[in-house]
Amino acid sequence: MRDILLCMVTTKPSTPLPHDVTGSGSPLLFVHAFPFDAGMWGPQREGLSSRHQVVTPDLSGFGRAHDWAPRASMEEHAADLVALLDALEIPRATLVGLSMGGYIALAFARRYPARLAGLVLADTKATGDSPEAKAGRAKSIALVESSGVPALVQTLLPKLVSAEAPSSVKERVERMASAQPAAGVKAALAAMRERPDESPVLGGLAVPALVLVGEGDSITPPTDARQMIAAIPRGSLALLPGTAHLANQDAPEAFNGALAEWLFRYGI
Ligand code: MLT
Repeated sequence: MRDILLCMVTTKPSTPLPHDVTGSGSPLLFVHAFPFDAGMWGPQREGLSSRHQVVTPDLSGFGRAHDWAPRASMEEHAADLVALLDALEIPRATLVGLSMGGYIALAFARRYPARLAGLVLADTKATGDSPEAKAGRAKSIALVESSGVPALVQTLLPKLVSAEAPSSVKERVERMASAQPAAGVKAALAAMRERPDESPVLGGLAVPALVLVGEGDSITPPTDARQMIAAIPRGSLALLPGTAHLANQDAPEAFNGALAEWLFRYGI
């Protein structure tokens, strides 16, 4: 009976998030954006695994973790990531979070600073949602409920990659986002709406941090990136020209190049 009760109250997942591991070297843990899955990191797996152990999980409620219980906060996603590092016996990793992945990476940095070797904040911001953004989340949840995830994706697409992106990239992005389950998408919208302002984390970062942003990102624009970089003790900024929000898809070579150069510079 006691064992059953212990199982019921545990919050730590017993199996790690579904993930891919490619290459060897210092570990990079990539945290995907909303509403995507580990598949969005294909160009990074390909471009960075010759020097690094590249780990790309599907967050709970997305991709291969579509049937996992959706998480209610960025912190709960961060707890899943630390459980994954434990399962892979990785003591410290560099987290690379893009947009929602960056929100989660900041929650991770606050909760588990000793597990970080470096931090990459790509096309993201540290502040929480404004009242307008919170109202937008409620509308997005209502849209998913009334018309499904693909309808929401249609409203996001124009901001995700630049107009000049190849149609193969646009199609891949649309396909991946549209395939995500409504439960995971709605939970992530609610969790992003409730996330705290993580700006105080930035000044306390004990590891090098790279802030990377597409010059044409209209969701988390370069002004957000500049605000973060001003607060980070060992921060570097990379502005990627001609790219929108999903800079890693829009300009994979420039994204990988900036990341690789920074990793090399800091001996990570
Ligand atoms: C993302 O790309 O993860 C989202 O655009 C983040 C957000 O909606 O705040």
